[in-house]
Amino acid sequence: MNEMKINSYLRVLRRSFDITYRDIEAIIADFHAEMARGLKGEGGSLKMLPAFVDVARGSESGTFIALDLGGTNFRVLQVSLNGKGRAKVEHTEKFVIPKSVMRGTGAGLFNFIARSIQRFLIGHVDPKGKRRLGFAFSFPIRQEHIASGILINWTKGFTATGVVGGDVVKLLGRSLEDYGIRNVEITALANDTVGTLAAKSYEDPTCDIGVIFGTGTNACYRERLANIKKIGPRACGGSKRMIINIEWGNFNGFMTSEFDRMLDESSNNPGKQIMEKMISGMYLGELVRLVISDMIRKKLIFKGRKAGFFRDGFTTEHMSQIEDDRSRGMKMAGRYLETIGVKKANADDLRVLKRVCRVVSRRAARISAASLAAVVTWMDPGVRRRHTVGIDGTLYERYPGFRRTIRSVLGGLFGERKKNIRLVHAKDGSGIGVAVVAAVAARNAGQN
Ligand code: GLC
Repeated sequence: MNEMKINSYLRVLRRSFDITYRDIEAIIADFHAEMARGLKGEGGSLKMLPAFVDVARGSESGTFIALDLGGTNFRVLQVSLNGKGRAKVEHTEKFVIPKSVMRGTGAGLFNFIARSIQRFLIGHVDPKGKRRLGFAFSFPIRQEHIASGILINWTKGFTATGVVGGDVVKLLGRSLEDYGIRNVEITALANDTVGTLAAKSYEDPTCDIGVIFGTGTNACYRERLANIKKIGPRACGGSKRMIINIEWGNFNGFMTSEFDRMLDESSNNPGKQIMEKMISGMYLGELVRLVISDMIRKKLIFKGRKAGFFRDGFTTEHMSQIEDDRSRGMKMAGRYLETIGVKKANADDLRVLKRVCRVVSRRAARISAASLAAVVTWMDPGVRRRHTVGIDGTLYERYPGFRRTIRSVLGGLFGERKKNIRLVHAKDGSGIGVAVVAAVAARNAGQN
């Protein structure tokens, strides 16, 4: 009896999370319309932000400091480029950003960054030597130049006050001064997707798309200058193309479920980043938690417990571990849940939980594939050319089945031509990539 009720609940859930090929065709058409609007500066859900840089040639060289800010961690790296397509991370250090800093004041955030840079310089490199620094800033920024950018709005968990509308390069520069760091010049600012594309393009000239499937999700690609109507004719270091940061996380042409709406309403940016809330690591765990809480209320899972029992702490990482546990009793998954206070889950509960995770993660992967297909077909409607897509982020790197689903949807859409789209993992692409961007900027300015 209960089994039947569970199955019928899951059937309805699956239907409301289903993304059919027909949906995908509609998503692609909508995506193209929004891309066109964004490039003309007519508003819409896709910001289509010019990055004021094109991909690398592979001949750029030099040593740079790179900052990578945007997820739960903040990283500082020293990267050297050998001029032959090889980038080497010479030193790297990771700093955990306390929630209080992410959600405090802008000054607090940039001082935290400046202090981390100071520690890095003292610990790893000659702290007095002159350095050029590339800043990977994983949020929407409006740029007029490669070494400046105005924060349009925060996304993901950040809300630090007094930064939106300000130039983040100036804000960081001020904090560096306050900490007496005068030998470091910020020469490039780029979104993490732009960094990822730059990093891959440094070693592979066929790379023309950069994607992040991590805490947040987004993509960038190479656009013809003539198509970027909103900035008029601009030189881009002698290149006829420029990278555009799509900010695709804000796309919203989807049917959403009641759980998506609940999640959105309780988020710190309601109505924004709708696609990101259906795809990315920051939100998938919460979506599952909302479904499970509903099932507990309907007495379909974790019998005898209150809905609040499955409270905070369930993350996309847990989903990933649950989907990974293929054993019969799912003992491993049970143990992971114990660590967040979900005690004594029985095998039946765990199996149902796994099915819910699957529904949510599968939709995420199908929407991801649809968006990627939209970008490829925007650049090359017949998918005749070869496209290498540099991808980074934990979801892509580690979530069981995520890559497979993306590949299979691309196959369903393009058949044999799918082999023209090569997906490659760009590990730590944004940090390395922003050093590449700084090197491209130096080359354009005639310094290298
Ligand atoms: C969010 C940010 C975007 C970034 C992405 C991945 O969507 O708005 O700029 O690229 O997360 O980190």
